[in-house]
Amino acid sequence: MRSSRYISFFLPFALALPFTTHQGYGTSSTQLREDLQQKWCNDYDKNGSVTTVSLDQASTIAPETPSDPASVYSCVGPKAEDFPGKDAWLGFKQLWTINQPVIETANGGNQYNDDIKSAILEVADGSKVDARLILAIIMQESSGNVSIQCTEGNACGLMQHRGSVQFDSSQPKTSIKAMIEDGVYGTLSVPGFLSYFNGDSSDLTWVNTQLINGNPYAAAHVYNTGHIDSENLSTDNGQSNYYAHDILSRLQGWNGWQVGCLKSRECAGLGFEGRSCR
Ligand SMILES: *[C@@H]1O[C@H](CO)[C@@H](O)[C@H](O)[C@H]1NC(C)=O
Ligand SMILES: *[C@@H]1O[C@H](CO)[C@@H](O)[C@H](O)[C@H]1NC(C)=O
Ligand SMILES: *[C@@H]1O[C@H](CO)[C@@H](O)[C@H](O)[C@H]1NC(C)=O
Repeated sequence: MRSSRYISFFLPFALALPFTTHQGYGTSSTQLREDLQQKWCNDYDKNGSVTTVSLDQASTIAPETPSDPASVYSCVGPKAEDFPGKDAWLGFKQLWTINQPVIETANGGNQYNDDIKSAILEVADGSKVDARLILAIIMQESSGNVSIQCTEGNACGLMQHRGSVQFDSSQPKTSIKAMIEDGVYGTLSVPGFLSYFNGDSSDLTWVNTQLINGNPYAAAHVYNTGHIDSENLSTDNGQSNYYAHDILSRLQGWNGWQVGCLKSRECAGLGFEGRSCR
């Protein structure tokens, strides 16, 4: 899920830290920029109900839950600016209802669902990265499987982030939250989603932050690949890249099932025809 391009840079630092003392990467922004909060973040109570909707939102009414979350897929794009604002996303509660059974399947039971939900809401509240974005990335990366193995380059945990802590069955609640913090705030190895979203140029010296421009879909692209080289989010180094489109589709209710993936192959002008859909 993460590009191997990072490995040579960061391997020496890729040590898992004890998750009780969270340390982010570099200058470590602790919150989303104020202007981006206004545009991209709602606040939620402990149950996931919206408490504050940012001012520029045209409508406080979320779209209806799709009747078949398996077959949702959005073909917008390919440029970041073509992607819709947050009022086109389902509400957090709707998304949670859609993804809850997927998380349950991934863990062989619902024993971690409440811990995952409350950790998402807590990290969203602290970072002002909308809880829906955090949920979408978790689902994309791990389907909510707390025990997921590390993949190439020490990408670990629920958000499959480089250098992230892993699940600890002796401290499920604490380790679940720590995995989410690592993905959002970053680890000593790499910045987290928050730094990409903020376009922190001091942390992202190798990234063209102009291309991110405070856009969560562009930030998701960088979260996945480690860089961004074009306004065209469906391409990465000349190869097709569907990560940002998958994230949008999840925000609109896709549950990650194969039908939606097959649908993405039919999107015109995105270059997803050859994508593998297992
Ligand atoms: C959360 O939901 C529970 C059960 O539906 C309810 O009792 C409680 O008051 C809610 N809490 C908030 C903060 O809305
Ligand atoms: C969750 O991850 C563990 C560890 O890699 C794996 O054994 C298990 O099969 C996964 N669960 C699912 C449903 O894929
Ligand atoms: C965007 O990238 C995809 C995948 O490489 C490509 O198929 C498509 O033609 C590109 N679109 C534009 C407008 O550059």
